[in-house]
Amino acid sequence: MFQDVLQQLIPSKEDILHIQSCADKIVSKLKVKDAKVVVGGSFAKDTWLKGKKEVDLFVAFDYKKYADKSEVISNLLKKALEKNFKFETLHGSRDYYRVLIGDVTFEIVPILEIKKAEQAKNITDVSPLHTKWVKKHKKQNEIRLAKAFAYAHHVYGAETHVKGFSGYALEVLVIYYGSFLSFFRNAAKWKGKTVLDPGRLLKNPLMELNASKTQSPLVVVDPVDKTRNVTAVLSGENYKRFIFVCKKLLKKPSAKLFEVEKEKIPKGALIVQVSMKGKTDAVGGKLSSLFSKVKRHLILEGFAVKNSRFVFEEKALFWFTFKEKVLPATIVVKGPPVS
Ligand code: UTP
Ligand code: MN
Repeated sequence: MFQDVLQQLIPSKEDILHIQSCADKIVSKLKVKDAKVVVGGSFAKDTWLKGKKEVDLFVAFDYKKYADKSEVISNLLKKALEKNFKFETLHGSRDYYRVLIGDVTFEIVPILEIKKAEQAKNITDVSPLHTKWVKKHKKQNEIRLAKAFAYAHHVYGAETHVKGFSGYALEVLVIYYGSFLSFFRNAAKWKGKTVLDPGRLLKNPLMELNASKTQSPLVVVDPVDKTRNVTAVLSGENYKRFIFVCKKLLKKPSAKLFEVEKEKIPKGALIVQVSMKGKTDAVGGKLSSLFSKVKRHLILEGFAVKNSRFVFEEKALFWFTFKEKVLPATIVVKGPPVS
């Protein structure tokens, strides 16, 4: 059965050639002094899902020359793009660029060319090391199944409005557990906080990682960068949801569970519909923080929120379920301690 699911996920030879030829068009026209243009992300790793038409390109600048002035590389890349391309500028930890070639979107990211994660000046510098690590383990199709499953249950993506598993996080987890099924079997047993160190790089991850990186319910030490938690953005809700759907799949394996799940809003939930102009990552990010704020205030007011979710599809909405929808008429407020 999983074999049938998998057949839908593997890009065909034509798919690959098409994207490759679009990539070649950029690579041949993009000349940047002191830098190499390399294909990265899931296309380079061969872990992308059929139908996905987004490719990550990295422009890797010479380390010796730019390590001390890496703030200029975004601008250097921009100057080079201006010669031959129509592009859009995106703001991240460093500015990067988006170019459309035919129906394929390329995100072009300036980085420093590094050999070891310690040299990184920016989190994106490490990405080619991720690619190398993932390729070496040859679990591409196992990874595809895990990505499709996470996607089907709305927990795929590290963007603020998803707070799920990044592509790389799923890759690391599949490789660590050996196969997608073993990953799901283990995930079904996750309880409370789970701490994993696939590369066995730390003695005590919770002590050694920066506290800001260990707030998530799942801590996965990056096998190529021991200062990073690969799943730092995973929310508690998505962690629980993922455990729940893994249990469901193991109990009754079915190809249906790889199809995108329709959002089910529990009966009796409070639903807040939000109007939005355009469905972009930026809008998603803002609404996601608004959602957290609303939820925090509900809790501060005394509501016991049982479950809640920010849905960001054709419509944007927040929903909440409560232990009690009406607050008690009186509450006990404990006074300050005598001391
Ligand atoms: P992408 O989010 O495009 O991931 O980031 P991907 O591996 O290409 O997988 P798809 O696109 O979901 O199929 C590109 C690279 O940036 C780094 C990883 O190295 C990733 O391969 N990255 C991105 C992270 O390490 N963490 C993130 O949260 C996002
Ligand atoms: Mn990608």
